[in-house]
Amino acid sequence: MTVNIQRLMGELERLATFSDAPAPAVTRVLYTPTDLAARAYLKSLFAETDLELREDALGNLFARWVGAEPDLPAVGTGSHTDAIPHAGRYDGVVGVLGGLEAIRALQAACFRPRRSIELLMFTSEEPTRFGIGCLGSRALCGAWTAEMLGRLRDSEGKSLDQARTEAGFSGGLETVRLPENYYSAFVELHIEQGPLLEQENLPLGIVTAIAAPASLIVRLSGQGGHAGTVLMPDRRDALLAGAEIALEVDRAARASGAPDTVGTTGIFKVHPGAINSIPSRVELGIDIRDIDGARRDAVVSRVVAAVGEICERRGIGYEIEWMNADPPAQSGEEVVRALEASAQELGLPYRKMVSRAYHDSLFMARLCPTAMLFIPCKNGWSHRPDEYASPEHIEQGVRVLARTLARLAE
Ligand code: GLV
Ligand code: MN
Ligand code: MN
Repeated sequence: MTVNIQRLMGELERLATFSDAPAPAVTRVLYTPTDLAARAYLKSLFAETDLELREDALGNLFARWVGAEPDLPAVGTGSHTDAIPHAGRYDGVVGVLGGLEAIRALQAACFRPRRSIELLMFTSEEPTRFGIGCLGSRALCGAWTAEMLGRLRDSEGKSLDQARTEAGFSGGLETVRLPENYYSAFVELHIEQGPLLEQENLPLGIVTAIAAPASLIVRLSGQGGHAGTVLMPDRRDALLAGAEIALEVDRAARASGAPDTVGTTGIFKVHPGAINSIPSRVELGIDIRDIDGARRDAVVSRVVAAVGEICERRGIGYEIEWMNADPPAQSGEEVVRALEASAQELGLPYRKMVSRAYHDSLFMARLCPTAMLFIPCKNGWSHRPDEYASPEHIEQGVRVLARTLARLAE
């Protein structure tokens, strides 16, 4: 079986040109003209490969290689192609274009799957537009209902429903949920987004569990005013409360007792944002994760208590909006075994590992046995323009993925 790595690298390069940020940065946000143009490019590639295409009401894109027994639950693979602001070109994309290349390699080798093999491009794994990650997979597995999806608004106040309709995705949101036994297994190829594989000089990681993510938006309201005339004892500065909260997120994560706890304040919006005006309103976006769901929840509770204490002391009003608090996921043993057997056949060393980033596999694991295959990325960098994975590692990942899909579909 041969993987055409030149073709794949050319497609990765081409997909990176669909971006709202200057190269090498990639920004590709849900349902923007750029996202839609990238999807059209992908669909043209899928069509060239003679796959059956289907899009659901959210824009999850399915490309199916129909197996000899089409009524059996299919084997799924895939990932996402949306990119957070100023990201790189490999996150998610390697699993979509790499999944396509794995299918093409199997087809070229005249493999005939018993089960259908289906490539999936998930809508909006990244939380950029609607504040919630894994939007497509949350809906596919029923973790979020149509009603929950219907409440989502972007920062301009546009509803998800309106945004998807304008993007050309119609049909009831309740139709997105997949029926039981749709997939027999799911496997996602992805860059590690951390440094361990590179540090240990290993080409592959097989993911046994995905860490539990939680995120919340904290909105603070104080009192604005003139930076020269409002004296210090009279101030109710929303930014200062926000700064204390951000420091508490950091402190609480460090104090959890485990190196696996991480806390980040990645959004800090200041209103009105003028140098000579006291900040009256602030919005914080806080992300807290752990491989242990209960320990993650304890950190979240500590942060929530601190928000109350800090705001009371500073005379600041607050509102907390929970975006998500998801449990961790365990990989399916049979998929892990299929990945291990495929890596061993190719003589490629690997380690088992936990994914600290979340992925659509976190939700696919609720539908069917699921596992992930990681390849190294330079310095563990991700969510930044200089994210990089070598053609050699991508090729090895695709080879193992192709064998794994063949095993699972036999
Ligand atoms: C996914 O992009 C994550 O934030 O883990
Ligand atoms: Mn990402
Ligand atoms: Mn990703």
